[in-house]
Amino acid sequence: MDEIRVKGGTPLRGTVGVLGAKNAVLKEMAAMLLAPGRYVLSNVPGIFDVELMADVLRHTGAYCDLTKHELSVSVPKELVPEAPIDLVRQMRASIVILGPLLARCGEARVALPGGDDLGARPIDYHLDAFEKMGATFTLEHGVLVGKVEGRMTGTEVELPFPSVGATENVLLAASLADGDTTIVNAAREPEIVDIARMLNEMGANISGEGSAIIHVRGVEELHPADHRVVSDRLEAGTYAMAGAISGGDVTVTGCNPDDLRMELRKLEDSGCEVERGEGWLRVVGVERPSATDFSTLPFPGFHTDMQPQMVAYLATADGTSVITENLYDARFRYIGELSRMGADITIEWQHAIIRGVERLSGAPVLAHDIRAGAALVLAGLRADGETVVGDPHHIDRGYEDFVPKLASLGADISRSAG
Ligand code: UD1
Repeated sequence: MDEIRVKGGTPLRGTVGVLGAKNAVLKEMAAMLLAPGRYVLSNVPGIFDVELMADVLRHTGAYCDLTKHELSVSVPKELVPEAPIDLVRQMRASIVILGPLLARCGEARVALPGGDDLGARPIDYHLDAFEKMGATFTLEHGVLVGKVEGRMTGTEVELPFPSVGATENVLLAASLADGDTTIVNAAREPEIVDIARMLNEMGANISGEGSAIIHVRGVEELHPADHRVVSDRLEAGTYAMAGAISGGDVTVTGCNPDDLRMELRKLEDSGCEVERGEGWLRVVGVERPSATDFSTLPFPGFHTDMQPQMVAYLATADGTSVITENLYDARFRYIGELSRMGADITIEWQHAIIRGVERLSGAPVLAHDIRAGAALVLAGLRADGETVVGDPHHIDRGYEDFVPKLASLGADISRSAG
């Protein structure tokens, strides 16, 4: 069986670089469906989800060529407007092609994603917005069939919650809609700013991205553009926390520290020293961190995708930390695995109460999702003896060369293929 083995106790030291953001590049690939022609994306991470999204694009008729950190895509004039269940099930983010397909083709057949390892994950905000823009939907044997007569129409979309995916899907469709669209209570994530930047490079007319109200003036036609993907704050944050949990001294390059403000602040609250510069950050850990509380929230709050890594770190803090998870009902599933390593954590509804222990003990554990997998490896860096993380393919969905990068910082880590 494929597994990652990590022996704890070595403080990580050195510099590690990060690539483009998974959560931007997948949507930027979907944006390409809005106009035929040839695109080149650079700073593309070599991760499994990019390969899956390339398969989603290929299914529509696009040609994709992924070389080291560069993705070339040729989008044809006629598209097959569908995403089949085998692809959607593997990667829920493929739902983001719904907006571009409806806007460009007037129809879309996209398998309903359903839930995943993080819980229910509905798409009602996406569908409500598209209905307001003139689309109608039917559900046929698990496939969502959307249709639009003529062009989609610009409108005001009020999101009940600043959903990242719904903001992006509406942004993509609104760029080609007839008239103006205003997204109220929009998500403000840096990845959304980057997607809007790419759309504007393609000839869209978007303003207000990065704020809670985004305006889109629909245009009749877009054109291809080349684009460099914004850096991955989650990859950067994970290596920052690897430095912290091991009591080491790690510098991360190719990142924007402002995109990790709350996460770095919490590391500081726990006793770490954090330095920030243009395109880099440095974290110097302490022997034993102090407990600190946090709640996951939309940007600029503490990112839910950094929660498992931070919980792993606080598992050995001095004192009790209270964590509130506001995004996903099943996000704490990995805590059972951390408990196998000796963590003392109680779950009360959406709260995790972490009573810091002095040591973790290496054990065989299973990665349930990308970030849970990363968190368990990080816990292994701190634990006595050997931790064996099974199902590491989840980690490959979001991190390129996770094991070699940690090894380059001095971690005693290896991966064996089954
Ligand atoms: C994206 C990220 C994911 C991150 C999340 C929150 C990608 C590929 N994934 O996911 O890594 O954890 O943002 O930062 O970019 N909701 C509804 N109805 C909807 C849409 C969302 O109720 O139609 C709820 C969700 O269940 C969740 C919350 O809104 O509780 C936020 O979800 P959302 O921001 O949409 O997350 P994703 O875009 O799926």
